[in-house]
Amino acid sequence: MKTETEIFTSHSEEETRKFGHDFSGTLSGGNVVLLFGDLGTGKTVFVRGVGEAFGVDGVRSPSFTLINEYESPSGIFIIHADLYRLDSDGVSATGLDEYAGDSESILFVEWPERWLNPPSNSIRIYFESLTENEHTIRIERGLAC
Ligand SMILES: Nc1ncnc2c1ncn2[C@@H]1O[C@H](COP(=O)(O)OP(=O)(O)OP(=O)(O)O)[C@@H](O)[C@H]1O
Ligand SMILES: [Mg+2]
Repeated sequence: MKTETEIFTSHSEEETRKFGHDFSGTLSGGNVVLLFGDLGTGKTVFVRGVGEAFGVDGVRSPSFTLINEYESPSGIFIIHADLYRLDSDGVSATGLDEYAGDSESILFVEWPERWLNPPSNSIRIYFESLTENEHTIRIERGLAC
């Protein structure tokens, strides 16, 4: 499969939120989005922006809840998982695989390295902090060919 790559440099939390908001236009039910990157690089801020575009306010970090589920006004569910505290057995227990197969949900996963078998057509987004406020966001998505 060919891969399309897009890189964006964000200079503030606000820019990352806005980028997530705009990126949401490319998403639809059934998508799985894997969010790679160290602590504090902007993964949750990005999902907050996506949520706002779907009419969901106040997306919060799922660090402790592991999975947060939000129903948007359009009926699409935004599912936001953080696997940081889990091992692969713990990940199996979260039911992530069922969410991934649900055409009415868009699934966002922070720390996806813990997930043994994410769908191969997942969208992959890599977050990196260059300085305190300058963060890069690299999006890789497969193209059907
Ligand atoms: N350009 C930027 N984009 C995003 N966040 C930024 C930026 N500059 C500074 N920040 C700050 O970095 C932090 C990013 O936090 P966020 O919760 O999104 O990280 P995360 O990648 O989800 O981390 P974790 O793995 O701990 O969940 C926020 O405190 C935010 O204010
Ligand atoms: Mg987070």
